Amino acid sequence: MQELGKLATNTPLDKILNGGLDRDAITNVYGPAGSGKTNIGLSASISCPEKVIYIDTEGSFSLERFRQMGGEKKLASIIMLDVHTWDEQHKTVMKLEKIVEKEKIGLIVVDSLVNLYRLELDSANFQQTNRQLATQYSVLSRITRKFKIPVLVTNQVYSRGEEIELTSRMIARYWSKTLVELKKTDKENCRIAIIRKHRSVAEGRKIEFEITEKGLKQVGIFSL
Ligand SMILES: Nc1ncnc2c1ncn2[C@@H]1O[C@H](COP(=O)(O)OP(=O)(O)O)[C@@H](O)[C@H]1O
Ligand SMILES: [Mg+2]
Repeated sequence: MQELGKLATNTPLDKILNGGLDRDAITNVYGPAGSGKTNIGLSASISCPEKVIYIDTEGSFSLERFRQMGGEKKLASIIMLDVHTWDEQHKTVMKLEKIVEKEKIGLIVVDSLVNLYRLELDSANFQQTNRQLATQYSVLSRITRKFKIPVLVTNQVYSRGEEIELTSRMIARYWSKTLVELKKTDKENCRIAIIRKHRSVAEGRKIEFEITEKGLKQVGIFSL
C-alpha cells in the first residue's frame, strides 16, 4: 500500500499525530466550547497547500482570526460553504463529491458537524436525523478514501450525558479513524489534546498547548 504522508495542521497536535492529518481518514476533534476546535480548523486550512472546502455551520469562521494566524494569502483558495440549517448541511455534504471531482482540493473541514444536528433532534424525528448524520459521515469517509483528501470534523461535547450525546458519539467513533479530545485546563488559554483513537498512535498520547495571537503553541518541550 502506498504511503500517503500527512497534512500538517501547523499546531502542536501534529506532534501527537505523527505529523498531522491522515489523508485517507476522518479526523474528529472534540471538546467543550472554547477548547480550540475552530482554531485547529483554521490553522490546518492555512497550512494546506491546495484549495480547502470549509463548511461553517455556526458562523465561527472569523476573517480577523484567520488573518491573525497568517492566512491572508490563503483566503482566495478557501471554498467557504456556510450552512444554517440541518437540511442545508445535509444537502451540502451530499454534493461535496461533485466539487471534489472538479477542483483540486487538499482538505475538507466541517466545523462543526453536530451543532445543527442537535438543534434538529429537538424538533424532528430522532431516527431520521441520526440516519442523516451517519450518511454524512459515510459520504465524508468515501471521499477521503477515494480522493485521498483529509477530512477534519469538529464536534462540540456537552456535559449532559444524555442519550443524544451517546448516539452521536457512537456514530462519530465508528466513522472517525482518529479521535482527538481537547480539554480546558486551569491555566487561561492552555489546553490539552489527547489521542482517543488512532490507527498508529497509542491512545492517551497527549500534549499541552496554548492559544496565542498567532496560533497554537506547545507548552513545554515534551509531549506529556
Ligand atoms: N488572539 C487570540 N489570542 C489568544 N487567545 C485567543 C485569540 N483568539 C481566540 N483566542 C481564544 O481561543 C479560544 C476559542 O477557541 P475556538 O477554537 O474558537 O474554540 P472552539 O471552536 O472549541 O469553541 C477562546 O478561549 C479565545 O480566548
Ligand atoms: Mg468553534
